[in-house]
Parts: sequence; structure tokens; C-alpha cells
Amino acid sequence: MKYYDCVYIWVLFFLLKSVACFDLDPNDKDSVYNGINTVTKGMLNYYQPSSHTFTAYWWMTGSCLNGMLNTYSGTKNNSNMGMVVESILANKGEEDDFAPNNEKFNLGNDDQGIWGMTGMSAAEMNIKDNESDVSWAALAQAVTNEMSERWDNSSCNGGIRWQIYTFNQGYNYKNTISNGALFQLASRLARYTQNETYVELARKVWDWSVSVNFIDLDSYAVYDGSKTETNCSTITNEQWSYTTGVYLAGTAFLYNYTNGSTEWKGHMEGLLNRTLNYYFNKDKIIYEPNCEMSNTCNYDQTGFKGMLARYLSYTMQLAPYTTETIMPYLHASAKAAALACSGGYDRVTCGNRWTWNNGTWDGNYGLGEQLSALEVIQSVLTPQYSPLLSLKTGARSKSDPTAGQDTHVNFSIPAATKSDKGWAGFLTALFSFLFLLFSLWLFF
Ligand SMILES: *[C@@H]1O[C@H](CO)[C@@H](O)[C@H](O)[C@H]1NC(C)=O
Ligand SMILES: *[C@@H]1O[C@H](CO)[C@@H](O)[C@H](O)[C@H]1NC(C)=O
Ligand SMILES: *[C@@H]1O[C@H](CO)[C@@H](O)[C@H](O)[C@H]1NC(C)=O
Ligand SMILES: *[C@@H]1O[C@H](CO)[C@@H](O)[C@H](O)[C@H]1NC(C)=O
Ligand SMILES: *[C@@H]1O[C@H](CO)[C@@H](O)[C@H](O)[C@H]1NC(C)=O
Ligand SMILES: *[C@@H]1O[C@H](CO)[C@@H](O)[C@H](O)[C@H]1NC(C)=O
Ligand SMILES: *[C@@H]1O[C@H](CO)[C@@H](O)[C@H](O)[C@H]1NC(C)=O
Ligand SMILES: *[C@@H]1O[C@H](CO)[C@@H](O)[C@H](O)[C@H]1NC(C)=O
Ligand SMILES: *[C@@H]1O[C@H](CO)[C@@H](O)[C@H](O)[C@H]1NC(C)=O
Ligand SMILES: *[C@@H]1O[C@H](CO)[C@@H](O)[C@H](O)[C@H]1NC(C)=O
Repeated sequence: MKYYDCVYIWVLFFLLKSVACFDLDPNDKDSVYNGINTVTKGMLNYYQPSSHTFTAYWWMTGSCLNGMLNTYSGTKNNSNMGMVVESILANKGEEDDFAPNNEKFNLGNDDQGIWGMTGMSAAEMNIKDNESDVSWAALAQAVTNEMSERWDNSSCNGGIRWQIYTFNQGYNYKNTISNGALFQLASRLARYTQNETYVELARKVWDWSVSVNFIDLDSYAVYDGSKTETNCSTITNEQWSYTTGVYLAGTAFLYNYTNGSTEWKGHMEGLLNRTLNYYFNKDKIIYEPNCEMSNTCNYDQTGFKGMLARYLSYTMQLAPYTTETIMPYLHASAKAAALACSGGYDRVTCGNRWTWNNGTWDGNYGLGEQLSALEVIQSVLTPQYSPLLSLKTGARSKSDPTAGQDTHVNFSIPAATKSDKGWAGFLTALFSFLFLLFSLWLFF
């Protein structure tokens, strides 16, 4: 069927010379490398060299760069590493805390946290520090210190808010992606620096997340969050793959740091079980239940399952015994992703719903789709990833426990921005329109 499809497309598009189709064999390295190169190329179509960002909300750039760091870890192909390192540094901000002035008014704890994790990955992968500039580890520490300073007892008995500034919509919301990001950063820094202070911080965030039932210890469901006005008594019970994933990886880092403590092993297995039962379908294909069933995923949400795959990869690296359980799910998902990366005029544009119609393109496309396909496909290479290092095992990125501590972001500028969060929607609409014109031109 796939073959037929390719031939058909070939006949239809032979004049365009951009015909391709890729089938993926997760057991064949060259096939996986080919898949990675194909989806990376699609992802880089959204990259703007002038601003060192991808065309999307700012956090997505941080996540894509983390994905590309993982590519290097898995393939040792350093072709894009110059661009990756340059882009991370270009976004580190005037105060070395991933809160650049031109993003500050939009910045949420989740955005800053996701960038912090990208810095952390560079440290764990031993990307060389620039000796005369901030270290990778210090970037992650600055983010962690600033986020933990925002701990807020005025409602819900603690936790950090979604947004940082009072004038941003979402300031009155506490959620799992923000708190989960802080939990994961603290867990990674605990392992990286062997400093118990970070374990205490991780435990504080975990205990709080459980105390307000954002994490349900019976099912290990991870819910989205709650408005502060209700004192976290009324939970928004949406579940998103990356929130479960962000906590899952945090427990895996603590499991590894504690040499396999039963406590963190139990939480890790609970979250893993939940992940495999809830975010994969019966054919072991990853999906986002909350929006894929209704085909209503927005520009951000299409990238979430890629982040879950990234966190599953960490879990396998830090708790190798889980590989046997997790890998069949990633193999099935990588195959499905490749089949669904068969859209657009280049015929290798990735779709969003890989469970749709036996792995054919579902008509969706975007940066999130490319990122998700990249992370899922490359995660099958996890056993050959470079080890996630700590200072004890040879990492050289310098720790600075005080990073970010004298940076008190202080704004009282009236609500003016936020409206520009609409521009991505506009662009999507514009692209859709152009794409429609293009399709009409092709077919008629
Ligand atoms: C789904 O696709 C695979 C591979 O292309 C093919 O072998 C299989 O028969 C298809 N199944 C259905 C139900 O179309
Ligand atoms: C390395 O990555 C570049 C850029 O993505 C790609 O063009 C090249 O084919 C890759 N090399 C291999 C051996 O896959
Ligand atoms: C290292 O950082 C310094 C100070 O920011 C900068 O001037 C220099 O170009 C950087 N070196 C490299 C190799 O990036
Ligand atoms: C918040 O409350 C906890 C106890 O619930 C306490 O340990 C902590 O010091 C308080 N933090 C602040 C910033 O008041
Ligand atoms: C909010 O909930 C916490 C328990 O989570 C409780 O200790 C506190 O008194 C409540 N505050 C208000 C204002 O209801
Ligand atoms: C883990 O084991 C190593 C080697 O046995 C030991 O040096 C280290 O202190 C242990 N770490 C913890 C947190 O128990
Ligand atoms: C995993 O989840 C399933 C269904 O949710 C449950 O039946 C099973 O007992 C769980 N296994 C473990 C090890 O928690
Ligand atoms: C911790 O991670 C390393 C790889 O980074 C792995 O070799 C080791 O077995 C892990 N420890 C445990 C307890 O699984
Ligand atoms: C551990 O981290 C804490 C908090 O960041 C810091 O105050 C302390 O100096 C660190 N200890 C060491 C030995 O680095
Ligand atoms: C923030 O700025 C205001 C006005 O400039 C000042 O009064 C306040 O002390 C500052 N707060 C912090 C925490 O620096």
C-alpha cells in the first residue's frame, strides 16, 4: 500500500523533483539516520537564522534545540551543532537565565523551565563551556534558582504559578508543566552536582504536586493544574503527555542518583505504567488523547508527545532495566511517525495523528509535528546515546549554585503585550491558505 502510494505520488509529482517517501525500519540504523535527517530538514524549514529562533512560541525553540542536542547524542553527527550551540547562547538572555528582555513580557515558568532543561542537556552531554562566558550548568542553575524563588504560599499551600508576571493571563493558575519542570531541573542538578540541596527542592515540589492531587498516586494520572482562587480545590483534569513525561524523567534522575532507591523506583514505575497505558494506543503508537481524538491540537500541543518520547529516552538511560519494556512502544511509534510523514508538497511533511488511517498523513503539519517525529524516531537509538554525565562521572560544565540568585525580575509595566501570542495562529492560517492554493494549483 505504501509502495503504491509512493509510485502514485511519484507519477503525480515527478516534475517537482522533490519526491520522497520514507519507510522506517527501527532495527536498521541507516534507515533511522535517514528518518532523522528527513524530519530534521523539515524542522529546519521553520528556523530563522536572523533571530536564532524557530517560527513558534519561544519555548518551542528551546525544545527543538534540545531535540537536536539529542540527535547529536544518538548519531554523533555534528553537522548542525554549530547552529545549535550558537542558538542556545543567542537566547540565554542578558542576565544568563533564559529570560531575554525581548521575551520577558511573555515569559511563563514553563517556558523558562523548558529552556533550562536544554541548558542542562548541554551540560550532561559535555558540550564544551565557553570559558569566558556562562557555563551550561550555570544557565540551568539560574533558571532553577529563579523558579524556586517564585515558590508561593499565598494559595494552595505552595507551588509555583504558571505565569511570572501579574499582568499575564495565567498568573492565577498553578500547573504541572511549570512545577514539573522545576522538579525535573532539581532532580537533574541533584545528580549532576551531587548536592543534596537539590534533592530537597525536588522532594518539596513532588510532595506539593501530590498534596494538591495534581499527581494522583493511585493511578499516577498527572492533571493540568488549578486556578489559585479555588486554592487548588478544583482541578482542571486535562492530561497532557509532556506533563507526565516531565515528572517521569525527574523520578528517573532521582532513581539513578539514589542508586535505585525503592521510593523513586516506585514513583518512576507508576508514571511509566501510566504513560504506556494512557498515551499509547493498543498498537503501541504514541498519541495525545486530549486533542488528537477531536483533531483540535493547537500549534503547541503537537510537540508534546515528542517531549514525552525524550523523557522516555532519559528513563531508559537512567534506569536501563526499563528499556525492554519501553522500546517496543517506541519502535511501533517511530514506524507510525515515518508513515505519517508523507504529506505536503515534499511528501515527507509530518502529520500529527500517527494512529490515523493506518499511518497516513492526516493533513496537519507544523513545527510541533516535525519535533515529535524527530524525538520519537531518534529515541529508538537510546542504547547508543552518549551517557548523561554528572560532575562525578566526567562532566566539565562548571556548577555555580548561586547563579541567578541576585537577579530579581521586577516589572510593574501595565499589561500591554500578550496579544502577540496570536501571531502564530495568524501564521498558521496564512500557511494553510497558501498551502490550499498550492494544492489547488497542483491538482487542477
Ligand atoms: C497498514 O499498513 C501496513 C504497512 O504499509 C500494511 O502492511 C497493512 O496491511 C495496512 N493495514 C491496513 C488495515 O490497511
Ligand atoms: C548529518 O546531518 C546532516 C544535516 O542534517 C545531513 O545532511 C547528513 O546527511 C547527516 N549525515 C549522516 C551520515 O547521516
Ligand atoms: C566566548 O564568550 C565570549 C564572551 O561572551 C565571546 O566574546 C566569544 O566569542 C565566545 N567564544 C566562542 C568560541 O564562542
Ligand atoms: C511556605 O510554607 C512552607 C510550609 O508549608 C514553609 O516551610 C516555607 O518556608 C514557606 N515559604 C515561604 C516563602 O513563606
Ligand atoms: C488552602 O488550602 C490549604 C491546604 O492545601 C490550607 O492549608 C489553607 O488553609 C487553604 N487556604 C485558604 C485560604 O482556604
Ligand atoms: C551511590 O553509590 C555510589 C557508589 O557505591 C556512592 O559513592 C554514592 O554515595 C551513592 N549515592 C547515594 C546518593 O547513595
Ligand atoms: C499498570 O497499569 C495497569 C492498568 O492501569 C494496572 O492494571 C497494572 O497493575 C499496573 N502495573 C503496575 C506495575 O503498576
Ligand atoms: C544510572 O545511569 C547509568 C547511565 O548513566 C547506568 O549505567 C546505571 O546503571 C544507572 N543506575 C541505576 C541504578 O540504574
Ligand atoms: C549546594 O547548593 C546550595 C543551594 O544552591 C548552595 O547554597 C550550596 O553552596 C551548595 N553546596 C555545594 C557544596 O556546592
Ligand atoms: C521593584 O521596583 C519597584 C519600583 O521601582 C521598587 O519599589 C521595588 O522595591 C522593586 N522590588 C524588588 C523586589 O526589587
